Amino acid sequence: MRAEAAASLETGSPPVPTHVAIIMDGNGRWATKNGVSRSKGHRKGADAVKEAIHGAIDNGVSYLTLYAFSSENWNRPPDEVRDLMGLLRMYLKREIRTLSKEGVKLQVIGRRDTLSEDIQDLIKHAETETRHNTRLTLLVALSYGAREEIAEACKAIASRVAEGSLNVADISERTVEEALYTASIPHPDLIIRTSGEKRLSNFLMWQAAYAEFSFLPVLWPDFTRQSFSDAVIDFQTRDRRYGARP
Ligand code: IPE
Ligand code: IPE
Ligand code: MG
Repeated sequence: MRAEAAASLETGSPPVPTHVAIIMDGNGRWATKNGVSRSKGHRKGADAVKEAIHGAIDNGVSYLTLYAFSSENWNRPPDEVRDLMGLLRMYLKREIRTLSKEGVKLQVIGRRDTLSEDIQDLIKHAETETRHNTRLTLLVALSYGAREEIAEACKAIASRVAEGSLNVADISERTVEEALYTASIPHPDLIIRTSGEKRLSNFLMWQAAYAEFSFLPVLWPDFTRQSFSDAVIDFQTRDRRYGARP
């Protein structure tokens, strides 16, 4: 039995998801609906990140992963990519102190080498500044793709075999786990996607094997801490069986 289920049986309280991951989607549609630019939609989307963080803290969640920019998002028009990178830069400059005060530890997953150098430096600084915080671990998926993550893990494992430090027969699920960006992070219990789309879009494919899903109609800029709590309440009605039979 999983730790969270065992704890809730003992206390009689419903299980709290240890790790919630969110596909923050719908900024563009929010902009169209409100007659403003896509750029403004992304700005409002960046504001909603605070709601997600407070939702996670309010609900006692330990890990929150936010899908902020996918490997495929590089294929958007250059001015939109520039806007998104600008927002990221601003967020990393302005919000880190507040996050740190709130006990948030920030960690970035994804191909950070594809980001501009100044952003890589801001990320390093933010990770260092917040590394001792323990209230909430916030993983931000940036230039992230699950296929790329798995391919990178294969490469790392193959090099260990080639140099003779690992036998092929000893490769297990654990070996793969430990080669992922999320090594040592528990798998997501709940994955929320806003905007009504019902797909993973290359997000945490290995880690999502037994996640519960919540597809919310709300567009990301309208997401609130209450939306987060509602998704948690829905999660608490799920019967997680992991393929076994009671
Ligand atoms: C999510 O909003 C933000 C990113 C993917 C970076 P979108 O920009 O995808 O919004 P829609 O899907 O076009 O409404
Ligand atoms: C997924 O949203 C990526 C992020 C939220 C960062 P997209 O809007 O890029 O996904 P698709 O294109 O609808 O699958
Ligand atoms: Mg989208």
